[in-house]
Amino acid sequence: MVDKQSIIDELSVFSGKKVFLTGDTGFKGSWLGFWLHELGAEVLGYALPPQQPIDHFSAIGLDSIIKHVDGDIRNLEQLLDTVQNFQPEFVFHLAAQPLVRLSYSNPKLTFSTNVDGSVNVLEAVRLTPSVRSLIYATSDKCYKNREWIWGYRENDELGGHDPYSASKAAAELVFSSYYDSFFQFVEQLGVASVRAGNVIGGGDWAENRIIPDCIRSLKTKQPIMLRNPASTRPWQHVLEPVFGYLALAAKLYTTPKSYSGSWNFGPRIDSIQSVQTLATEVIKVWGDGEIISNIDNNAPHEARLLQLNCDKANQLLGWSPCWDFARTIQETVHWYQSVVKGDDALSLTQKQIQAYRRSQTND
Ligand SMILES: NC(=O)c1ccc[n+]([C@@H]2O[C@H](COP(=O)([O-])OP(=O)(O)OC[C@H]3O[C@@H](n4cnc5c(N)ncnc54)[C@H](O)[C@@H]3O)[C@@H](O)[C@H]2O)c1
Repeated sequence: MVDKQSIIDELSVFSGKKVFLTGDTGFKGSWLGFWLHELGAEVLGYALPPQQPIDHFSAIGLDSIIKHVDGDIRNLEQLLDTVQNFQPEFVFHLAAQPLVRLSYSNPKLTFSTNVDGSVNVLEAVRLTPSVRSLIYATSDKCYKNREWIWGYRENDELGGHDPYSASKAAAELVFSSYYDSFFQFVEQLGVASVRAGNVIGGGDWAENRIIPDCIRSLKTKQPIMLRNPASTRPWQHVLEPVFGYLALAAKLYTTPKSYSGSWNFGPRIDSIQSVQTLATEVIKVWGDGEIISNIDNNAPHEARLLQLNCDKANQLLGWSPCWDFARTIQETVHWYQSVVKGDDALSLTQKQIQAYRRSQTND
């Protein structure tokens, strides 16, 4: 088993390195961008402008901590120019249209962003020889969902009922084709697609996501309305997959071909819980609140049962999630509650990263 301290130590590879990050204005991208900065990387973010001033990116003032360019991944010319001028050694691709519900109302936007946009990122990597390590985020929803109790493994069949899931499965096929056709022949380049579960944590305010919906209700003393209370999801704190991406990117840099491929980064088994249990736990930590089931029988299809098998990351990378379900909810709710009370979002984020690093090594 790989020693956890050695994984943390390997993150020193980022010090002084140029890192290009798509989706830095988003929820996961802003946590990753800040952690990379803390590791001493020179980060250039590329994404659409942040949507709201309360989003994590704006709340921590990330635009004055890392460099950021407002840009669209569907615009190959702008993307390529930006990457080639910057000459990064690391690329993290997180930009996407990530919402299942929005994918039903706007499938074209979803496919053009998640498929065409991802092709453009792979083109930029193919045409920029400075790049030595690529992390390409898809989703746990890229698997053909059989609604069974077992976790999906990296070599399970891809699929997707809703447009979002299908777009991520398609992005995986595109990735695989670029690997087989181009990247496997570039000795210095390591590339990985990464599939995480339902990520929660401070600073996400997206519509139709359960934690932001809960916090919006709790803040205004309204009941939390649950559309799919019985659906189970693999809940994980944002720092868990972000740590996995960092650890994997470091390995791709040093031993590119041994780590290239696809990787799951899901939560512990005790974190696979129903939406109802999640909302109940959020209320417990917040202090008070109420839940109302508001099942919409005409709602579009969403997967009810989904989990990931993470044996590969555990055995080959030494990565495993370290915060259990209770701690994940505590850290998440604490972040929002403190910011609502007026605490500084940046120092909360910094302290949570430090606490997470300590938990990884004390495990
Ligand atoms: N949040 C989750 O639970 C979850 C779970 C599994 C996978 N993922 C994947 O992780 C990645 C990040 O997700 P997130 O939750 O941070 O999403 P988010 O919506 O918070 O952020 C999305 C980011 O992509 C950018 N973006 C969207 N369209 C773009 C375009 N055309 N050009 C440039 N930038 C564009 C946005 O500006 C934003 O920076 C996505 O690939 C998502 O599919 C997320």
